[in-house]
Amino acid sequence: MTPTSSAPFLTVTDLSVRYGAVEAVHGLSLEVERGSITVLLGANGAGKSSTLAALTGIAPAKGGLQFDGLSLTGMMPEEIVRHGIALCPEGRRVFPSLSVADNLHLGGAAHVKGDALAARIEAELDRFPILRERFHQRAGLLSGGEQQMLAIARALMSAPRLLLLDEPSLGLAPKVVDQVFDLVLSLRDQGITILLVEQNAERALDIANRGYVLQSGRLVLSGSGAELAGSDLIRQAYLAG
Ligand SMILES: Nc1ncnc2c1ncn2[C@@H]1O[C@H](COP(=O)(O)OP(=O)(O)O)[C@@H](O)[C@H]1O
Ligand SMILES: [Mg+2]
Repeated sequence: MTPTSSAPFLTVTDLSVRYGAVEAVHGLSLEVERGSITVLLGANGAGKSSTLAALTGIAPAKGGLQFDGLSLTGMMPEEIVRHGIALCPEGRRVFPSLSVADNLHLGGAAHVKGDALAARIEAELDRFPILRERFHQRAGLLSGGEQQMLAIARALMSAPRLLLLDEPSLGLAPKVVDQVFDLVLSLRDQGITILLVEQNAERALDIANRGYVLQSGRLVLSGSGAELAGSDLIRQAYLAG
């Protein structure tokens, strides 16, 4: 199959994720257009992280996962990263006892070596000047916002074409939340396609090209960012008024 720019970049078809007796995702289908920001919304436990875990090969999944003309089904997580999908997990899991430098190094070392690795680290320090200031500090000593930037920078070290962001604004101060949303927009403008899981529905839909809403593992609503922002379900569940 030859990838074409008009075909959806990512197509999820009838995806189910099951952990023993718990079915976290049931029959989910969605599409992510190349160059877009696509938002996945839903209450706690709706199956958002499980969907991202299926896309990165770290959760047991059934169904179709097509990425840029390639089936991800049955691929190992490392192989999926190599094909250009990176996950920045929920709860910004940086290595707290390692330095910022080492965290970035670990994000890239499986993909590039030597000068190329150093160049990638340098590019992330240009993107996130605060990480340059903190370069030799232990990651655990950074503020929540700085740790989130480090977690995103680490995911970017694999030079992904599709970046999966799991609740990047959670628990951050309003000013830092602004920075996170600005960053998501600028990454999209640099050609990185974004699949964003967010609790902050209003902000997320404001920047989204398209959104999907999960309830108890099932898709209940989809549409453009503006359509969802105006829908009764979203207004009642997530937005004031
Ligand atoms: N590793 C796991 N083992 C068993 N159950 C899990 C696991 N991860 C998630 N779940 C369950 O799957 C459901 C969906 O969880 P999750 O995908 O984390 O939702 P969300 O990210 O939308 O909050 C929840 O009922 C959760 O308890
Ligand atoms: Mg989650």
